[in-house]
Amino acid sequence: MAANGKISVLTGAAFLIASAAAQPPAGDPEGHRWWQHAVFYEIYPRSFADTNSDGVGDLKGITSRLDYLRWLGVDAIWLTPMFPSPQVDFGYDVSDFENVNPEYGTLSDMDGLIAEGRKKNIRVLLDFVMNHTSDRHPWFIESESSRTNPKRDWYMWRDGKRPGQPPNNWVALFGGPAWKFDSKTGQWYYHYFYPEQPDLNWRNPAVEKAMFDVTRWWYRRGIAGFRLDAVDTLFEDPQLRDNPVIDNQKNVYGDPNEENVYNLKLPEVQGVLRRLRRVADESDAVLIGETYTRNIGELKEYYGARGDQLQMPMDMMFGTVDKVSAPEFRRQIALVEATGAWPVYVLGNHDLRRIVDRYGDGQHSDQIAKLMAALQLTLRGTPILYYGEELGMENNDPTRREDVKDPIGKLGWPKEKGRDGERTPMQWDASQNAGFSKARPWLPVGPRFAKYNVAAEQGDDGSILNFYRRLLALRHTNDALREGKYVPLNQNDPNVLAYLRAYKGRSVLVVLNMSPAGRTFRAENMPAGTATTLLASGGKGIAGGQFALEPFGVYIAEIR
Ligand code: GLC
Repeated sequence: MAANGKISVLTGAAFLIASAAAQPPAGDPEGHRWWQHAVFYEIYPRSFADTNSDGVGDLKGITSRLDYLRWLGVDAIWLTPMFPSPQVDFGYDVSDFENVNPEYGTLSDMDGLIAEGRKKNIRVLLDFVMNHTSDRHPWFIESESSRTNPKRDWYMWRDGKRPGQPPNNWVALFGGPAWKFDSKTGQWYYHYFYPEQPDLNWRNPAVEKAMFDVTRWWYRRGIAGFRLDAVDTLFEDPQLRDNPVIDNQKNVYGDPNEENVYNLKLPEVQGVLRRLRRVADESDAVLIGETYTRNIGELKEYYGARGDQLQMPMDMMFGTVDKVSAPEFRRQIALVEATGAWPVYVLGNHDLRRIVDRYGDGQHSDQIAKLMAALQLTLRGTPILYYGEELGMENNDPTRREDVKDPIGKLGWPKEKGRDGERTPMQWDASQNAGFSKARPWLPVGPRFAKYNVAAEQGDDGSILNFYRRLLALRHTNDALREGKYVPLNQNDPNVLAYLRAYKGRSVLVVLNMSPAGRTFRAENMPAGTATTLLASGGKGIAGGQFALEPFGVYIAEIR
């Protein structure tokens, strides 16, 4: 590379410039709304920051760390459930949708977080657990009290097939039958997840109204939107037909492997999402979906035929590409791009093993963390980050069954160790408990915290954290990265994933070496111009329009 950081790039064949998008009413010059250029960051409140020294994170802790998030370049935070809950599923068993779990603080702490967030330009989104409540929610307590209670039909109560036998063969995702018998009223209730998470009956209009009102209540408090939990589980076959059993094998819980034909992704889900979206639109709120899909067609459906369902259905297929593979990521991106929809790429969350654990190879894991960040943060669309990924945090899995907190880890031990490993305390500094808490944290801090923590990485120019920060700054300031069309390059390259983001005659080149060997890259088809390095880690321009990449190296340049 020349001393001025510029190198000449060989002229390629004609190159398509992104055509101006249609003109939706509001937003930036392209009609894009705030959430389309925002960077979202998922916080697991139990594990982020503890201000009252009980070993459990709290809302005040989150508020106290907003400056860090601002420094990093985060625009919106999604909090996993912080509502009152018996914590069987660590908040995903809600016993009151309109309050705050006392362990995490009070409603006024939430108001404080929203207000401080507003000052710092960080919007707050909550997690809407739509499919079920806790069995300690007053609605369920009423519902189970008698067959004639007005709330009986708010849940899925059914007679058994025969005495002692559940209504059908459905098994719960979290182990055992999906039905629990209630001896007092002599009926079974349905639960897709734990027995402590009874499914709401979304065919009952009163349920829909009550749940929609919950979102209104939070919008009035200043919430910018919701992440919708487990949307595909909302409806069940009215005839309760048995699910087909796939094979003779058993899953980690010892249950038959079933295909969820009759209790997942029923078409009625789309109607609820359309109506929920109308409610969200009244408050200009954004809906993110936990949308696990098997193919691109299913993902596309969640946007709605007229863009009238979820603005941000998460592409969970992206994160299930299970190896650092240029062809596989290229393929997945192409599928999403072909839909024309606004992509929402996700690599990590509180249910998935940490990025370093899934993609790292031990030898180059720090560089791989940067590579995956560069991939997620230079694509078109809205990225959602998971706390701690910006540090390269690793899973810290329990090694003994008695240490497991997540019930599926207890039930499925040792094959299924549960999700504790990816939910460990945020690593703020090298002090005791990684600066997360003065007390013993509810889950043990990862063993590498002395090196991988905010304070240490802020002070290290080459850290994963500083790389994330630079990427986020670029996303916010570079028009081509914000608005540009995705143009794949060298589509048969088995090792290097490369593309342009092209906008109004300007483009950004992204070259990602997804292999453990050094590579030289030369684009087959590039716009004429000079490459100016924007950001690199293990990558550089060399003479003749070529780029040299170290193992898993990243090179990002502006072409002008
Ligand atoms: C979603 C959540 C997961 C939770 C489940 C049940 O998949 O992400 O953590 O256990 O729903 O609510």
